[in-house]
This record gives sequence, structure tokens and C-alpha cells, in this order.
Amino acid sequence: MSITFKPLHPIFAAQCGGVDIGTPLSGDDAAKIHTAMDRYAVLVFRRGTPLTTPQHIAFTAALGEMEPPFTKIVSGEGLRLDDPRLSDVSNLSPGERLLGREDRKRLHGLGNRLWHSDSSYKRVPARYSALCAHVIPPEGGDTEFADMRAAWDALPPGRAAQIRDLETEHSRLFSKGTLGFQYSEQEVRDFAPVRQPLVRINPRNGRRSLFLSSHAGRVLGWPVPEALMLLRELTEHATQRCFVYRHQWQLGDLVMWDNGATMHRACVYDDLKYPRDLRRTTLTNGMPAMAA
Ligand code: OGA
Ligand code: MN
Repeated sequence: MSITFKPLHPIFAAQCGGVDIGTPLSGDDAAKIHTAMDRYAVLVFRRGTPLTTPQHIAFTAALGEMEPPFTKIVSGEGLRLDDPRLSDVSNLSPGERLLGREDRKRLHGLGNRLWHSDSSYKRVPARYSALCAHVIPPEGGDTEFADMRAAWDALPPGRAAQIRDLETEHSRLFSKGTLGFQYSEQEVRDFAPVRQPLVRINPRNGRRSLFLSSHAGRVLGWPVPEALMLLRELTEHATQRCFVYRHQWQLGDLVMWDNGATMHRACVYDDLKYPRDLRRTTLTNGMPAMAA
């Protein structure tokens, strides 16, 4: 059985077959997956059964170093998943009940509906995220991905030259701030803004990408309204339909994306009525993002 990659979209995203990600990955398959991630930036593994926590962790760890734990926003009843290496991307409480309308974890999670790149608010941002579907709602709740390399390539050359050396600041305070989410004083300290390049380069293939995220809220040296206008303009450009792949989840799917080459967002569903349980592991770059 050899590993295969079938494109799902004209410019990026592919479905990976011919490998059972529930069993230990061979070094050869891991290398092919990395090469495919550099090419496609989003890989879908359709397997019909969700990975167990040990399987999910083993698959992720075979591809690189996992992110260290970070401050989590928990529901009133505490954490639902035991393993701190899993991010709980669900609308459920530890008792497996739907989160109430006012629940802090629910309100924080609504921020996933803004276009973003995972952990861009950390000095060392995320490399890959691997999200596995344990429960999906009967309608809605897709996830959209946008190719930030294609977005960079499509910028008018003059605009590209104007912005290519800019630096930005990212923080959860900026993203959730646009939704009016209230953080505690401790959280405000934990989420102090970090600097990121606006344009990144993938050192393995030389491709540049726009490093955008709802967490971006400042451009260094620019007045705030002008900075926010630029970020909005670029985000609108980068999320045009031609750059977007929409994933419709099936039970057991694992979708892995490169946060250095894409943005993503959750699509609306009736979260007060239907459970949706997705679980995520995250790989780190091990170093700050590389400017183009
Ligand atoms: C994430 C995320 C989107 C979704 O897991 O990082 O943004 O559709 N998820 O749940
Ligand atoms: Mn995310």
C-alpha cells in the first residue's frame, strides 16, 4: 500500500490515502506527508473512525515537536479532556452537556469563526494543526481554509513591494476584542502582543505567504486605523472564494493544515442545539516565524 494524495481544490488541499494513521507512521510516509504539506498545505485523512487520544498523539509526534501547553479558557465546570496536549474544540462541558449560552468557553470559542492562523499570538507560532472529528452536527459546522501563498502571489506587484517588509503585532486581545470578549487581568498579561512578519517564507520551497490572522491588530510604526484597514484589506483579498477550500466533516476525519501557509475558520452551526466534538493537536515550528 503506497501513500497517495488526491487534490481537493484547484490550488491547494488534498486527500491522503494509502496510509493508516492509527498505526505508527513509517519514516518514509512521514517524509512524504511533510513534502505534501509543503505542496498542498491542507491534508484530509478520511478514516470513518476517530483516532483515540494515544493514536492522535502518536501520529502528531511522528511529524515533529508538539506545542507546549498554554493558558486555556475553560468552561465553568473545568476541563473536559484529560490530556493537556489535546485542544478541546467542542461545544461540550466536562459532563458532555452542551455549553450554555453565556458559558465563557463557548463565547471564547466563537472566535474560531474569525479567519485565523493557530497560535499566531505566540512568539513561536504553530506549525501544523491536526483536527479530528469525534461528533459532527447534522448540518453546518464546516471548516474553511484559505491559501495564503496564493493570496501573496496574486497581490499586485506594487502593493506587494509596499508591504513585504512590514511587521505586525498579534494577540488574543485583538481577535477576541473585536467580539467584545472580556479577559481577566491575568489573561491580559498572558496574552501580551507578539511581533510577527507580515510576509513569511517557507525555507523548504521558497514560497512566500501572507501571515494574516484575526489575532493581528497592529502594524509596527503605523497609526492604528491605517494598520487595521490594511489588515482588513489583505484579509478580504486573501479569503476570496478562489483561494478557499471548504471541508465538510465526516465522522473520523482528520484534517491537518500548515498554519504558516493558510488561515482557517469554523462555519456557523446551531451550537445550542447540536453537539460538535473536534479534538486538535498542534505542532510547533520550534522557532519564531521567518520573514520573507
Ligand atoms: C481549530 C479551529 C475550526 C473549527 O481547531 O483551530 O479553528 O471548524 N477549528 O472548529
Ligand atoms: Mn484554529
